[in-house]
Amino acid sequence: MIGKLNHVAIVVPNIDIATALYRDSLGAKVSPPLDLPDHGVTTVFVELPNTKIELLYPLGEKSPIQRFLDKNPDGGMHHICYEVEDIGGAVSTLVKDGLRVLGDGTPRIGAHGKPVIFLHPKDMVGTLVELEQV
Ligand code: CO
Repeated sequence: MIGKLNHVAIVVPNIDIATALYRDSLGAKVSPPLDLPDHGVTTVFVELPNTKIELLYPLGEKSPIQRFLDKNPDGGMHHICYEVEDIGGAVSTLVKDGLRVLGDGTPRIGAHGKPVIFLHPKDMVGTLVELEQV
């Protein structure tokens, strides 16, 4: 069902410092910061040869990652995203297997303009997992 690792998302306490770390110290190609008000995040994409790292910083009052940052003030790994070809089919298979999809279970449009869902970390050995249809 799952294909490539699309990205790993890391919540950061300071987007400029984190961007400089990846760009200057690690020598990676980074995008300019992109505000995604619908998702309550500012994101910087770090492009690696085989996948992406997404640096996430809270945007707005009700950012879904603010609580994560409150609990993890140094930042930390937030989720990993696997690619799937058919997200509807993936959801029905996983729900049948007893896995919980966050929210109402309907795919929504993610940060890359493609349908995504998130699986409950308690069902995924402690890791928040995003599936993205590519
Ligand atoms: Co993501």
